Amino acid sequence: MFQLTRSVTWQALERLRDATANDRISDYFASDPQRFDKMSLRVGGLFLDYSKHLISDAVLAKLLELADHSVLVQRRAQMFSGDIINVTEDRPVLHTALRHLGDDPVQVDGKDVMPEIHQTREQIKRFSEAVRSGEWRGHSGERIKDVVNIGIGGSDLGPNMACRALLKYRHPELNFHFVSNVDGAHIQKVLKRLDPATTLFIVSTKTFSTQETLLNAKTARRWFLENAGDGADVGAHFIAASTNRKAAMAFGIREENVFEFWAWVGGRYSMWSSIGLPIALSVGFEGFMKLLEGAYAMDRHFIEAPFDRNMPVLMALIGIWYINFQNAETQAIVPYDQALHQLPAFLQQLDMESNGKSVDIFGKPVGYKTGPIVWGETGSNGQHAFFQLLHQGTRYVPIDFIASLKPEPGMEEHHFALLTNMLAQANAFMEGSQEESKEHGQLDHYSCPGNRPSSTLLLDELTPHNLGALIALYEHKVFVQGAIWNINSFDQWGVQLGKRIAGEISERIDERTQDFDASTQGLLALVRAHFKDHQASPTAGKRPGKSTPKREKRS
Ligand code: F6P
Repeated sequence: MFQLTRSVTWQALERLRDATANDRISDYFASDPQRFDKMSLRVGGLFLDYSKHLISDAVLAKLLELADHSVLVQRRAQMFSGDIINVTEDRPVLHTALRHLGDDPVQVDGKDVMPEIHQTREQIKRFSEAVRSGEWRGHSGERIKDVVNIGIGGSDLGPNMACRALLKYRHPELNFHFVSNVDGAHIQKVLKRLDPATTLFIVSTKTFSTQETLLNAKTARRWFLENAGDGADVGAHFIAASTNRKAAMAFGIREENVFEFWAWVGGRYSMWSSIGLPIALSVGFEGFMKLLEGAYAMDRHFIEAPFDRNMPVLMALIGIWYINFQNAETQAIVPYDQALHQLPAFLQQLDMESNGKSVDIFGKPVGYKTGPIVWGETGSNGQHAFFQLLHQGTRYVPIDFIASLKPEPGMEEHHFALLTNMLAQANAFMEGSQEESKEHGQLDHYSCPGNRPSSTLLLDELTPHNLGALIALYEHKVFVQGAIWNINSFDQWGVQLGKRIAGEISERIDERTQDFDASTQGLLALVRAHFKDHQASPTAGKRPGKSTPKREKRS
């Protein structure tokens, strides 16, 4: 059985780690004036500078050898061609088909799936144009003004992030709201401000079985029926993006308003499907297609570029160097772009739900680290929150800085300050502040050790096309790491356990059951005290407490 850590290349990387243990990134620049030119790369509207890494030429060459010796080439070909690479769910992985713009077919079980993908794209086009033009009317004849997406995980994070990132392209008369948390405060906050006659609800759920989404959808439907007056028509105000047409229609959604997608699209990879409906409604179908075009361009780059000039492969290998050879536990994502405020949260699910695994595709425990903890916040805010730890703390945290170059008209001074702050921080992390400590001959309260690595990823402008390329870039980075670690990046069995236990607890809230540990029993007793008139489990549609939140009359 092939053991990654026993490979010649892996062991050579371990030796290189020891041999470069005292290297400084700044010395790499001093000894190679061409370093920036050699370790930067442009793909379309994206420019990656990966020169500020603790990676010598020899380390980079050996990392590339690791990719060459892995199953990456085969696994990549299998993914794009529709082979079953999600081995535990016996499914292909074909989010790339959703943005495939070529004429060649993509086969699943011997059937070309492109016709149904085109058909759904056409359905999204017709619907989004009807809502945006005002042709689509609510039950009382008014046009839609507010769109509420009800979904969680991949059925929320992707469209939510993209709508936020592309806010400047938003339809001026449409407002977008995203409800995900089962905490009633989330949906209450949204519903209180809405008029049912001009609100459209999108129930976004691949399975149509996720507890949080079903409860929020039922509460929204109850609110609508209680507030919309006579002739309230659920079918005119609720649509669904789901693989489960039957369950969507049972909820009261008209068949023609179920926007289907397929089991071979993973939730965290689904924003290119009908889960992306809010994006098409916000920026228009043309803008949505530009998003797909950008992702498709990155797909072509990922397939065609040699590994040493392949942006996703290089980012993946840099991550593997820190995770597997420099003991980094986390990866920081710091967009210096307020419009990308929700990108870290999206990348958290994409990366951690994909590569947060500890067995390989054969079900054998891996003997090495896999997916990192992904976290982050926008700059320059991070400078006033967690950069202290990054500069002077005891932990090693590689950073991805992300920004767009083009300033908004009238905001040039702000944008200049934003970008110069980002460049300054990347430089400071690398150089540190050795001079202050020279007086004291050692690291002290005032000095920063430096030698802390970062990548800088610049978008010419934050457009739908470039956002699509950015997201596809990270999807493929995650894919490459999963292939080299030989894990299944496309299932998520770890999330099923909590769901099962939540069901068991909610069904036994009234029993003094011995089925749970003493802590859970003790806490249940405290919870139980607040739900004396509790009925069946909330997912059964019965809820403790009063009816839905009353609408605040709009001023
Ligand atoms: O977190 C588990 C998960 O299955 C995610 O993979 C998915 O994006 C989310 O729950 C929501 O699932 P659904 O779209 O089926 O409601």
